[in-house]
Amino acid sequence: PTPIVIDTDPGVDDAVAIMLALASPEVELKAITTVFGNVALDATTANAGRLLALCDRTDIPIAIGAARPLVHPQRELAAEWHGNDGLGGRAATLPLPVPPGTDTAIELLADVLRTSEQPVTLVPIGPLTNIALLLAAHPELAPRIGRIVWMGGSLGAGNTSGVAEFNAHCDPEAAHRVLTQSDVPVTMVPLDLTLRCPAGPEWIEALAGSGPRCAALAGVITHYRAAFRERYGIDAVAVHDAVAVLEAVLPGTLRTTPKPVAVACDVGPARGATVGMADGSGPPVQVALDADTDKVLAEILERLRRLG
Ligand code: BDR
Ligand code: CA
Repeated sequence: PTPIVIDTDPGVDDAVAIMLALASPEVELKAITTVFGNVALDATTANAGRLLALCDRTDIPIAIGAARPLVHPQRELAAEWHGNDGLGGRAATLPLPVPPGTDTAIELLADVLRTSEQPVTLVPIGPLTNIALLLAAHPELAPRIGRIVWMGGSLGAGNTSGVAEFNAHCDPEAAHRVLTQSDVPVTMVPLDLTLRCPAGPEWIEALAGSGPRCAALAGVITHYRAAFRERYGIDAVAVHDAVAVLEAVLPGTLRTTPKPVAVACDVGPARGATVGMADGSGPPVQVALDADTDKVLAEILERLRRLG
């Protein structure tokens, strides 16, 4: 199996994504590193621990990452989507969290990269702060990263401002560093595609009926489903982060277009926008703009159901 590390801010769709990785034999989840984002870092870390406990995977190490963005303060949390606890108000109903280790996220990431026999796929599904810090602190380890698959950004409209997607908006300077360095292949799974993967009532009902772990996950989704309906007028949940994990599990599932991507870092209305640029203006990012979206949703569901 391909070794992977998920860097995450759980987060309802992060929960779906983590459980998808645990259900997928093609990958070995070597570690989870946490970051601020949807809610504050202590909550995202505890939530990662709860999800591993729920799935009886207390053997997987968790390390605490960045509490804040690289340069400017975070402007918005996403509690309206994910609930104040980050898991739709259900965190306290899950098993007690696996505690994080004493290594920082950067130390654990570096350790996994150094000791892995195969190139490691990094799957950041939150702000890119930890990955930017890793690349800055350990440029010598870049060749050991097989690929970075990031859920974030948008070439079209945003979901946090008119032009900025949430993960990009949380830490544009970090996104700039990761998307414009040329040492590691980066795939960006933007909002343009993930919003085309809304899991509807039947998908959620099928998940809920698949066993106690899946029922717990379906419960976590409930609050997010209501927020999504209010915002987009459809009864569904976009499983953004799980789409990126599926691409890490089954490379090539998403159709990508190589394109340099610039990140607007000025403090102002465009901050956090990810802009597709002309060829040659920077290192190309593989931007996932298309997929068989029905197949993506069916594949995610089928795998989650294995967890029971
Ligand atoms: C991204 O923002 C977060 O709220 C989700 O977990 C996802 O990573 C979608 O814009
Ligand atoms: Ca996330």
